[in-house]
Amino acid sequence: MNLDFSQIVPYIPFMLEGIWVTLKFVSMSIVVGFLLGTILALCKITNVTFLKGLANVYTSAFRGTPLILQLMIIYFAVPQLTGYDISAYLSAILAFGLNSAAYVSEIIRAGILAVDRGQTEAAEALGVSYKQMMVDIILPQAIKNILPALMNEFITLTKESAIVSVIGYLDLMRRAQIVGADLYRNFEPLLFVGFIYWFMVYILTQIGKVVERRMRQSD
Ligand code: ARG
Repeated sequence: MNLDFSQIVPYIPFMLEGIWVTLKFVSMSIVVGFLLGTILALCKITNVTFLKGLANVYTSAFRGTPLILQLMIIYFAVPQLTGYDISAYLSAILAFGLNSAAYVSEIIRAGILAVDRGQTEAAEALGVSYKQMMVDIILPQAIKNILPALMNEFITLTKESAIVSVIGYLDLMRRAQIVGADLYRNFEPLLFVGFIYWFMVYILTQIGKVVERRMRQSD
């Protein structure tokens, strides 16, 4: 066996910096994905055929093609079409946010459908407007029920973030590769960032548990 962790010690600050770089775009993508996903979910449950169709086509496209392909299209093909370069950071936020929205929209749609019909009927009987009903009555109940599924989505995004290394974004994964190439040994840096990914997901899981407990308190 040939293992020597002491060699990666000088590179640890360089790799740790990747945590922030990764979190920076993942957190933004989560926000983009959640907001757009909510809008898409609302489109899917309306009676307006056009909006429904649009949201379904969107989901089909973004769920039906690999995320790595979407990322590369945004980074390499958009400049070709528009003539404007796009940064790796912005491409990553867009690709991950747009992709996540497709998944989140289905999660939220399921959550809304699971809220008892009586809630809608009661709101309508009381003359509550559609917007207020959704924002104050239906969505809060839906979100509570779908929290575990949403947490899953955020965890997926955190781990899938590693594919941004293909567009040269200096995230955790890319940093491990650079260190590996520098040292001619890959196992140690890969194992090191592997542990960091695991730890980030662990923290996310704990946050999810706390939020879930808080939300259940009102039951
Ligand atoms: N590797 C999968 C793909 O390329 C991941 C998709 C992202 N998944 C998600 N829940 N946002 O399609």
